Parts: sequence; C-alpha cells; structure tokens
Amino acid sequence: MANLTGKKILLGITGSIAAYKAAFLVRLLIKSGAEVQALMTKAGAEFISPLTLSTLTKRPVHTDIIAGESWNNHVEMGLWADAMVVAPLTASSLAKMAQGISDNIITATYLSARCPVFFAPAMDLDMWCHPATRENVRRLQSYGNLLIPVGHGELASGLVGEGRMAEPEEIVAHLHHFWEKQQSLAGRKVLITAGPTYEPIDPVRFVGNRSSGKMGVALADAAARRGAEVTLVLGPSRLSPRDARVQVLPVQTAEEMLQAAEKAYPGADIGILAAAVADYRPREAAARKIKKTGDVLKLELIKNPDIAATLGQRKKTGQLLVGFALETDNELANAQSKLEKKNFDLIVLNSLQDQGAGFNYDTNKITIIGKGNKIRDFELKSKPAVAEDILDEVEVLLKNKPE
Ligand code: PMT
Repeated sequence: MANLTGKKILLGITGSIAAYKAAFLVRLLIKSGAEVQALMTKAGAEFISPLTLSTLTKRPVHTDIIAGESWNNHVEMGLWADAMVVAPLTASSLAKMAQGISDNIITATYLSARCPVFFAPAMDLDMWCHPATRENVRRLQSYGNLLIPVGHGELASGLVGEGRMAEPEEIVAHLHHFWEKQQSLAGRKVLITAGPTYEPIDPVRFVGNRSSGKMGVALADAAARRGAEVTLVLGPSRLSPRDARVQVLPVQTAEEMLQAAEKAYPGADIGILAAAVADYRPREAAARKIKKTGDVLKLELIKNPDIAATLGQRKKTGQLLVGFALETDNELANAQSKLEKKNFDLIVLNSLQDQGAGFNYDTNKITIIGKGNKIRDFELKSKPAVAEDILDEVEVLLKNKPE
C-alpha cells in the first residue's frame, strides 16, 4: 500500500456513473495516511451521496460555492491541499477546466489551486475520442496538470473501448509514484537553456527564431518538482517557470547565453540544452535604426559560439549533457551526428515533419537517442509530459554514470 502519510488531498467528484468508485478511492487514500476533503458537483451528488463521503472522510462535503449564508472558501482549500484529484472527471467538467470556467465548487477550487492537479476522466467511448475532448485533455496537460489515463473495458452505454475511469488502486498508485519521484533529483544541480536568442541588427530589429521557450520552461519546472536546484538560462520569452524555486537568468543573445551557461555548468550535474540558439548574428549591430534607403539591404552574418559544443568539450566525469536536435530531413542521422560532435550523453530529436512537434506548440513528439544507438520513440504528448519522459531517461543514465 502506498504511503501518503500527512498528505492533504482535495477530491473532486463530478457527475459520472464512476462516481460510485469515489467511496473506495476515499477509503484507499485514508488507509494510506492521507487527509481527504471531498468536493462534489450537483450532478456528482446524484450518483453518490455526500453523506457516504462525509462519513468516510470525517469532514463535511462541499457541493456548492455558497453554503447557506456563508461560502466555501475555494481559495483557502486550494492553498490547503498538497494535491487535488478530480475523479471521475466528465467531458463537460473537463471542458470547463480546460477553458477556466469556474461555475461550481470544483472548477473554482481548481482555478485557485497551487498544488499539483491530477485528473481521471470518465466518459463514453465516442465522447473520449471526440477531437474536442482530445484537445481539452491536451490543453489541461499543457498547464502542467497530470492525466491519470482512462482504462479500456465495458462502458455504461454497453460499448466496449476506452473511457473508463482508472481504478481507485491505480489512482492511488499515481499519487504515490508522483511523491516518490519528487525527491528523485534532490541534491542535483541542473542547468537548462531555453527559448530563442535575438541577435540585434539595430535597436529595433533582430535575427531570431520561433522558439517560445515552452519546452525548456517545462523541463525546468519538472526538474524543480523532482527536488533539483535548477538554473534556467532563458532567451527572450514571454514565459516564466511556475515553480518559484527555479533560478531564471534572462538573456537576449547567443553570446549572453554562452556566458551564463559557462558560469553555471561547472557546478551542475546535468545540462539540458533546449534553446534554439541563432547559429549566426549580424557582424555589427547598428547603433541607430537602419533607414529604408535602397531596394536591397545586405546583412553580413558571422558565426555564433556553439554553446553545446563548448560545454561538451568541458564536460567532466560524472556530468551529463543532454542536447536537442530540431530537424526537417535525415532526422535520425543528423541527430546522431550532433550527439557525437557535441559530446552529448543523450539527444532529444524533434522533427518539424511531425504535426504538433517543435516550435511554439503546447505538444511535442520526441525520439531520445543515447550512445550505442539506443533509440526510444515517444508519442505526441504535452510539453510538461515530454519533460517528465526526458527526466526519466536522464535519471536512468545518472544511476549508471560513474561519480
Ligand atoms: O521553445 P519551444 O517553442 O517550446 O520549442 C522547443 C524547441 C523546438 C526549440 C526545442 O524542443 C528544440 O528542439 N531545441 C533545440 C533547437 C535547435 O536549435 O536545435 P539544433 O539542432 O540547431 O541544435 C542542436 C543542439 O545544440 C541544441 O541542444 C541547441 O540548444 C544547441 N546549440 C545549437 C547552436 C548553438 N549555437 N548553440 C547551441 O547550444
């Protein structure tokens, strides 16, 4: 049995037939040491009685934001919890959470929650497969929420397929695994580069690229959640990590990114280079705005430093270096050649040929290539989920690396 001693869990129950399993879920959570506060939508309370859940949790169950002449403080509950679990989550409540609609006690608490949020969908086969539902799941994951995958089997409609809520034992196992992982990088220092670089042409124009920083920021948050001390060297991006423990070093150009990375890398155990660094920069940046004078403007570009290759050359025993490769053709061969040339331990390949992968998407589809031609393909996932896969691979390597 998982050990969740002292963990405070908000359990949201929405209106699905799977709500009857909430009683078993509560019993398992309490048996494993957790404190549970149940929240229900009105539809949820049609499927299982609040009295059953308040008896099991030994706490009043909240079914509305307004309770008589007072209100249930969803902000306070959001701050109280170590985790929120919404199980079962219907297609309709999923859509509300994905859109930020807060018209009931569960969706309002979800929006206020600062803790990790797990969601265990439950719906019929065609609802689960509908593109709108797929998009809502991806969107929720892209905000860092954690999907507890649906099961396969007989559904309330009589159809057989995907859409069943995960069993209570599986939900508890997910929580356990999450907290077990939380300290898996404790004591480790991780350097991450992310975002684009902007190489100035003049005070208003630059040479840059389409990187948003989403992939690198997701990696920084995931590593911090696992207990690592994270330094994020972040090129110009509108994003910032959700985890306040991440130390962010904002930079603009490749030269600045190199300087910041060079300082942080000697003390780091792991370097993960997700930035899309401009390979070339204008030889000179004009001090004043360049005027529109002729039909042609020639820019002379010179090579930027290769941050990855520089760190690769300085890598010490016990340090790990993980690179990315963004490719359009000959993907595997190009990535393998970068793995060797830049002295990476792993390279994460993302191809612009794959729909939903690469720049700016909330999702990515990766192949992780290790030394000795070890190749693992992953399906299209949200960038936070991709970050978890990358860190899992890094941890395997870390265990086998000489100190
Ligand atoms: O930021 P997002 O919008 O979420 O998009 C994520 C991403 C597509 C930018 C990311 O997943 C990614 O692929 N980053 C690397 C992009 C890239 O520049 O790849 P590359 O094949 O040109 O470079 C290979 C490796 O060398 C990369 O680790 C890169 O960070 C590094 N490099 C490259 C050039 C350079 N001058 N210095 C470097 O450190």
